[in-house]
Amino acid sequence: MKFAGKEEHFELRCFGCKQTYNIDDYGKFYQCAKCGNLLEILIISKYSSKAKQLRQGLWKYIDHIPLWDDKNIISIPEGWTSFVECRNAAKILGLKSFFVKFEGLNPTGSFKDRGMTVGVSKAIEQGYKSTMCASTGNTSASLAAYSSRAGIKCIVLVPKGKIAMGKIAQAIAYGAEIYQVEGNFDDSLRVAREICEKDSKILLLNSLNPFRIEGQKTVAFEIAEQLGGRMPDYVVLPVGNGGNISAAWKGFKELSESGIEGSIGAHSSGNLPKMMAVQAEGAAPIARAFKAGKRDSIDPVLDPHTGASAINIGSPVSWMKTLAAIYESGGIADYVSDEEIFAAQKFLASKEGLFVEPASAAPIAYLLKLARAGKSDEYEAMKNSTVVSICTGNGLKDPNAVLKGVSPDQLQTISADAKYLQKILA
Ligand code: F0G
Repeated sequence: MKFAGKEEHFELRCFGCKQTYNIDDYGKFYQCAKCGNLLEILIISKYSSKAKQLRQGLWKYIDHIPLWDDKNIISIPEGWTSFVECRNAAKILGLKSFFVKFEGLNPTGSFKDRGMTVGVSKAIEQGYKSTMCASTGNTSASLAAYSSRAGIKCIVLVPKGKIAMGKIAQAIAYGAEIYQVEGNFDDSLRVAREICEKDSKILLLNSLNPFRIEGQKTVAFEIAEQLGGRMPDYVVLPVGNGGNISAAWKGFKELSESGIEGSIGAHSSGNLPKMMAVQAEGAAPIARAFKAGKRDSIDPVLDPHTGASAINIGSPVSWMKTLAAIYESGGIADYVSDEEIFAAQKFLASKEGLFVEPASAAPIAYLLKLARAGKSDEYEAMKNSTVVSICTGNGLKDPNAVLKGVSPDQLQTISADAKYLQKILA
């Protein structure tokens, strides 16, 4: 395959048995024809784009993104999100150095935009006119936005009554065709996969699509660059389907193997970070598998339940890649309760001015839990390290998460009279 006149440089490879496929086969199937595992993209040689210096956001990393032709890029733009040093939180958490990578500042308010800019650009390149996804909310908002910008149809399936209103409002505004599925996210994804397997004209853009992962891996490049060209020691992030942790880990590995030319030098210094996967207690198949010492299987949760609706997933499609990221990096997986998640959301907003959605507060809840418990090997090791939490979504997407806990005295009504207020404030 020629890439806009250049040589072939990407290949599809099975994550399980390592069988390789021609990149041309992309979109025709989502799993290895031999063993059924997910596919990933292998970079064989680098692409070189004339226009890369003009690229905004994550497209400055175009040499590491599998696209044939610059003119197919659908971008809003996305990436290069704020990297916020959190000194107030660090003090309370007992950490020397703590940063939040605020992915809620992407164009549609979540990290999904990194994957969609690549996924939808690739859809255009391959001539697709329709895209589809199942979603707990953010994927649907993001796919709807990028599809509308590309001028193609977008069909989204969401579990009925289980997604935040801000997210559904976005999908409606961006013009997606929306179906509410009676069931949970896992049911919705099953239906979406069946449809796309039968109708080759519709491209599935859930995170099992390997091009999504290629966009999402750029978060690792940015973190290393924003740290001044070095790796963090720990990366703590929420896990639902497992796409994001797999992508970030792929990014850190590529960075340490080949470096990012012109930005972080030949190689980013330091060891690879430990990947810390955090789930909600009622939807924690990965954390439970890890705690049970399992490496090759998980037990799906048949009736997942958490108020952090973005990660309310019982049967994570990228479980194998997720366990690999955790074990290869020497990380962990753990879960936190909904109560801890909502408290952590308020903690981050009130101490650092960062309003993240509940799912994104799960890693903060984990760090608070470690700090509260005090002595543990994990915590002792983290204390003098550089810890980065990827906060995946914006708090504005799910205002009800905060409003439902508000008491009347937090929203007092007063007469329009300064003297009256003066008395109260005295
Ligand atoms: N955080 C947020 C805000 C999310 O929306 C998601 C996933 C995750 C974390 C977990 O990421 O699935 O890659 O492990 N949201 C998907 C969706 C499932 O449909 O929007 P993951």
